[in-house]
Amino acid sequence: MSTLFSRKPISELLHEGDRPNALKRELGAGDLIMLAIGAVIGAGIFSSIGTAAAGEILPDGVVVRYGAGPALVVSFILLGLVCGLAALCYAELASMIPQAGSAYAYSYATLGELIAWIIGWDLILEYAVGNVAVAVAWSGYFNSLLTGFGVNLPDWITHGYRSVLLSSDPAVSALMETAPRIAGIPILINVPAFAIVMLITWLLMRGVRESARANNIMVIVKLLVLGMFVIVGGMNIDTANYVPFAPNGWRGIHQGAAIVFFAYIGFDAISTAAEETKNPQRNMPIGILGGLAICTVIYVIVGAVATGLVPYQELKAADPLAKALQVAGLQTASWIVAFGAVVSLSAVLLVFQYGQPRIFFAMARDGLLPPWAAKVHGKYRTPYITTLVTGIAVAVGALFADENEIYDLTNIGTLSAFAIVCIGVLVLRYKDPDRPRPFRVPFVWPVCLIGAGACIYIMAGLPARAWERFGIWLLIGLALYFVYGFRHSTLRRGTPPVPTDHT
Ligand code: ALA
Repeated sequence: MSTLFSRKPISELLHEGDRPNALKRELGAGDLIMLAIGAVIGAGIFSSIGTAAAGEILPDGVVVRYGAGPALVVSFILLGLVCGLAALCYAELASMIPQAGSAYAYSYATLGELIAWIIGWDLILEYAVGNVAVAVAWSGYFNSLLTGFGVNLPDWITHGYRSVLLSSDPAVSALMETAPRIAGIPILINVPAFAIVMLITWLLMRGVRESARANNIMVIVKLLVLGMFVIVGGMNIDTANYVPFAPNGWRGIHQGAAIVFFAYIGFDAISTAAEETKNPQRNMPIGILGGLAICTVIYVIVGAVATGLVPYQELKAADPLAKALQVAGLQTASWIVAFGAVVSLSAVLLVFQYGQPRIFFAMARDGLLPPWAAKVHGKYRTPYITTLVTGIAVAVGALFADENEIYDLTNIGTLSAFAIVCIGVLVLRYKDPDRPRPFRVPFVWPVCLIGAGACIYIMAGLPARAWERFGIWLLIGLALYFVYGFRHSTLRRGTPPVPTDHT
C-alpha cells in the first residue's frame, strides 16, 4: 500500500532535463510571458463572460447559475487573487523542479505516485478537454468572419452533433431534421474546429522555436484588438448600465467567477515548458507571475468596459464582446474584435496543444503510460508521438462537441489540480526543508492553505452536474492506473526512466 505513495527523488527529476533524451532549452522569460498571455486570453474573455455576467437559465425556468452582472469585475479581481496564490506555489515548484510534467511532476516528488497520476489525469481536463471547447469557440468566430466576407459554409459541417442536440436555439435544433444522413444518423460535424487543431498540431511537431514565434505574433494581435475594444468601448460607456451593480449579490459574483475561471486557465501551462527554458530558476517565476498579473489587469478593464457599454443581459451571446459593440452601433469595431477572437483562440489552442503532450511525455518516461509516448523526434527534439495523438484526440472531440458542456468540467479539474499544488508546496517544505529553492513562496503557510481553500471555494460555485462528471472522470482514471501504471511504474520497479529513441 505504501508504494502507492512512493515519491520520486527531486535529484532525479533535476537530471532528467540534462539527459540526451531531454528537450531542447531555447525559451527566455519574455517568451514565457508571451506564452502565458497566449494561453490565458481566449475563449474565457471572448466567450464565457457572457454567461458569467448574465447567468444561465433553462427554457423551463430552472436556474443553472446566477450571473454577476456589472459586478463581473469583482469576480475577475477575486479570481486574480485566487490564481495569484496558486501561481506563487507553481513558481516555487517550477523553479525547483524544472521538468516537463508541471503539476504532475511536482506532485510525484511531494505527494507520491497515486496523487501524481490523479493530477496528470486532471490535467487532461485542463489541456486536452479544455481545448475541445476552445476549438469549437474558434470555429464559431471563424464562421462569423466568413459570413462577413459573404462566404456561407453549410450548417451541417459547422455544427457538432452535441452542440445541436443541446441547443436551445430552434434554428440550430432544426439541423437535426435537415442534415444529410447516413444509415439514418444525421451527419453534424464541425469541420473548421477539426481543421484548426490539426493545423496547429503540424506546427508543433515542427519544433518549439517556430511555434513560439507564431505565438508572439498572435499575442500582439490580441493585445491590440483588446486595446481597441477598451478605447472605442470606453468612449461609449453609459454609467446607467452599472446599476444595479450586483443584481444577484455575492451568489452571482461567486457563480460567475466559477465559470469565468476558464479565462484564467493557462498561466500554469507555461510550467510545462520548464525543460525547454533557459535558466528556469529565474525565468519561470517571472513568466508565471508576470503573465498572470498582466492578464488580470486586462480582464478587469475589459469587464468594466463590456458591462458599461450595454445592459449586462445583452452580453448573453456566443460572441459577447463583438455583440456589445454591435448593440452600441459600432459595427466595424465589432468585426475587428471578431477577427481578434479568431487569432486569440488560435494562440490558446497552440499553448495547450503544446502542454498536453509534454505531460504525457513525462508520465510515459516514468512508466505510467506506454513507452511509445516518451519518444523524442531525432531532428526537431519534440515529443512528436504524444503531440500527434493529442492533436487527433482533440480534433475528433471538437468535431462533435458542445463547448458549454465542457467549460465546467475543465474548470473543476483545473481547480482541483491547483489545490493539490498548493498543498504540495507545504509538504515539500516540511519533508525537504534544506533543498535550494530559487523562488520561495512568501508567508508559506497562509498562502498555501488559503490558496487551496480558495480553489475549493471557487469549485463550490459550479453546478452539481460538473461534480458528478468529475467524479466519473476520477473513477476512470483510477481504474486505468491500477490496470497499467501501477504495474509498469519505473519508480516502483526500481528501473531507470523509460529510454526514448531518436528516430
Ligand atoms: N484561458 C483560456 C481561454 O480563455 C483557456 O481560452
